[in-house]
Amino acid sequence: MATQLTINGASHDVDLPEDVPLLWVLRDEIGLTGTKFGCGVAACGACTVHIDGQAVRSCQVALGDVWGDVTTVEGLGTPDRMHALQQAWVEHQVAQCGYCQSGQIMQAASLLAQTPNPTDRQIDDAMQGNLCRCGTYPRIRAAIHTAAAKMEG
Ligand code: FES
Ligand code: FES
Repeated sequence: MATQLTINGASHDVDLPEDVPLLWVLRDEIGLTGTKFGCGVAACGACTVHIDGQAVRSCQVALGDVWGDVTTVEGLGTPDRMHALQQAWVEHQVAQCGYCQSGQIMQAASLLAQTPNPTDRQIDDAMQGNLCRCGTYPRIRAAIHTAAAKMEG
């Protein structure tokens, strides 16, 4: 029996075994390739998406265990307007190779939803599981502060 998922506000019937990781469903079945495969073992954060607003590692969540609405980086903003974090990412030219950045942005979005004006320490704590082999951490932190100020204003 197909599993029904809501992804970025749209309903999908997914006819795959229930133990298939959500990351595979998103990329290979739905075609949402903004979410990246990095390690496959919950060690890098490249595959981070939201389920009911909570940041999760989609390589670790089985299709049958998805408990709520899924949001990927493609659904974070609106068709007309990027999310404040995406705008700040452009403003600060955060990305280097870019591979980790959709996961970084999704993790940061869940941080700002819970802590609208985070300190450097709170940012470092929340983002510590999201690795960037290009070392863009200072720009990530600066962009989160910029987005937080914009969202508060
Ligand atoms: S691919 Fe999921 S945490 Fe690395
Ligand atoms: S920008 Fe290259 S891994 Fe983060």
